[in-house]
Amino acid sequence: MSRIGIIGGSGLTKLSRLDITHREVMHTPYGEPSAPLTHGVYEGLEVVFLPRHGSGHTIPPHKVNYRANLWALKAIGVARVIGMAAVGGITARMAPGRICIPDQLVDYTWGRAHTYVEGDLAEVTHVDFTEPYCEALRSQLIAAGRRAGVDLEASGTYGATQGPRLETAQEIRRMERDGCDLVGMTGMPETALARELGLCYACCAVVVNWAAGKSEGPITMAEIEANLASGMAQARGLLASLGPDA
Ligand code: HPA
Repeated sequence: MSRIGIIGGSGLTKLSRLDITHREVMHTPYGEPSAPLTHGVYEGLEVVFLPRHGSGHTIPPHKVNYRANLWALKAIGVARVIGMAAVGGITARMAPGRICIPDQLVDYTWGRAHTYVEGDLAEVTHVDFTEPYCEALRSQLIAAGRRAGVDLEASGTYGATQGPRLETAQEIRRMERDGCDLVGMTGMPETALARELGLCYACCAVVVNWAAGKSEGPITMAEIEANLASGMAQARGLLASLGPDA
């Protein structure tokens, strides 16, 4: 199959065990991507890796150039993209340490460059977004996760917030009423831009904390970092078991 694009999130700025073939600096009509593209082979699978927050994890969620990132992957001929993401767990089944392959999302972000549709068009275009994620890639991720023995939720609704602050307890209660299981800051506009470009995109979300108000006391970076390390190790295991034919 064709090589897969992997957008790394917090805790995954590098793919260890990636046999790097070369790096490629890209320029797009939308500016620079977060980092050069890293081409390589991961457990037999040809991948192109791009750390969403930059190689040194310096770009906050609201400053990521999502348009340039996806454009660059499309421009080199990648057809499928996995977006890795650290998230907070809202509903009971989304406990820290668990991995979720979401099937729906709700967008609470604002003010981000969120579309390639700009200027005066001959005709206004609207892309279908009923099912925001690519079902074929979702199924592959779920199967790989099961093969790898990962603690996995095969569905869930991702709520994308603006950040960089975390949410209030009441915002999380509202999100839960809206049907959100997970909360993260990078799912949008990344997912919608992928659809505009006709890319097959799925998200692999690693739950790193209980969302605000879902556990006693404040959310600490120590808690997030502890779960991030173990969760991303599981996520790497999932990616490794995609296999050379994915
Ligand atoms: N909220 C938003 N984004 C996040 C969280 C959270 O609790 N945890 C990790 N990313």
